[in-house]
Parts: sequence; C-alpha cells; structure tokens
Amino acid sequence: MQAHDVKEILIDKTVIAERVDSLVDEIVAAGQSTDLVVIGILKGSFMFLADLMRSLHRHEIHPRIDFLTLSSYGEESTSSGTVKIEHDIRENLENANVLIVDDILDTGRTLAFTKALLLARGAQTVHSCVLLDKKTRRAIEFEADFKGFEIADDFVVGYGLDYANLHRELPHIAKVNFH
Ligand code: IMP
Ligand code: MG
Repeated sequence: MQAHDVKEILIDKTVIAERVDSLVDEIVAAGQSTDLVVIGILKGSFMFLADLMRSLHRHEIHPRIDFLTLSSYGEESTSSGTVKIEHDIRENLENANVLIVDDILDTGRTLAFTKALLLARGAQTVHSCVLLDKKTRRAIEFEADFKGFEIADDFVVGYGLDYANLHRELPHIAKVNFH
C-alpha cells in the first residue's frame, strides 16, 4: 500500500442521497420490476445497494436480493484483467428480471463478465446500475443501464469503494491523493 490521504471530497453524501432517489425513479420508470432480483457485487456495492433498496421501498417493489463476490484489485490500484468468482449467488434466476448493482464501472470487465454469467443462468433480462462511471477507462465495450455520476480517471474511495480494503466506511466519495 502506498502512502496516501483521502481528504479531498469529490461527491458529498447529500448529493449521493439525492442521486440514489432519482436513480431509483429511473429504474422503476424503465419497468422490469416484476420478479426482480437485485444482485450486488461485493464488496464495493454494499452501501450503495442498501441505500438503493431503502429508496425502492417508496415504490412498493419487493425484490429478492443476493450477492456475488468477485475478485478485486487486491492491494493494487490497477485491474488484474481477470474476474474470478469467490462466492456465488444462491437465488434461482429462471425468468427473473435481474438488476446488477456495482460501485464503479471502470474497464468494464466485471460487469460484462457478470451480465453474461447471469444470462447463462436463465435470467429473462439483466440490467446494470453503477454509482460511478469512469468512462475513459473502458478496456471492453460496456455501458451500464443506470449510472449515478460520470467521473474523471482518479482513484476514489468511500461509500463502499476501497483502497487496499480501507476507507469503505466513508459516507462520501473521496479522491485518493498518493504521496
Ligand atoms: P472493472 O472490471 O475494471 O470495470 O472494475 C470494476 C471494479 O474495479 C469495481 O467494482 C471496483 O472494485 C474496482 N475499481 C475501479 N476503479 C476504482 C476506484 O477508483 N476506486 C476503488 N475501486 C475501483
Ligand atoms: Mg468492486
């Protein structure tokens, strides 16, 4: 782990909270909320998914929720390029409308891998929702159906996102400044 600080706030918690509500409105307006299965990619999505689900409650939608743990960056801040299942989901996806929730869309490998996997498991539709999108970093073609904020190519932490499994507890998104 490199010496760093996380003092610079990029997206404040009140801005995140407002965007979570409007994102949920977008998701509901798009339909596909019957037999909805929400799948969070761990660990990064835990805080975002919890807030999305609390907001979804306003619409009286009752999703099944499951989690998929995928291999992450480890202690590096660059992707290893391979995606590995560390802990699988347990829900049956036959005929389900699936919504994948992840913290950030970067190279696109994680979500492309996950979407193909869940379609192969029999899901009727698979959509994706990310809090952050680093559009310029894409290594393979992938667009999320719902995204909170587009950000520049900075390494960010907080609201579930980590550096070396640290800083996930921050209620806001902060920029990592390496020294
Ligand atoms: P992708 O497969 O390259 O799109 O990577 C997505 C995953 O990379 C996310 O779920 C994060 O775990 C991780 N990631 C990418 N950029 C950042 C960042 O700036 N901060 C923390 N994690 C990141
Ligand atoms: Mg992640």
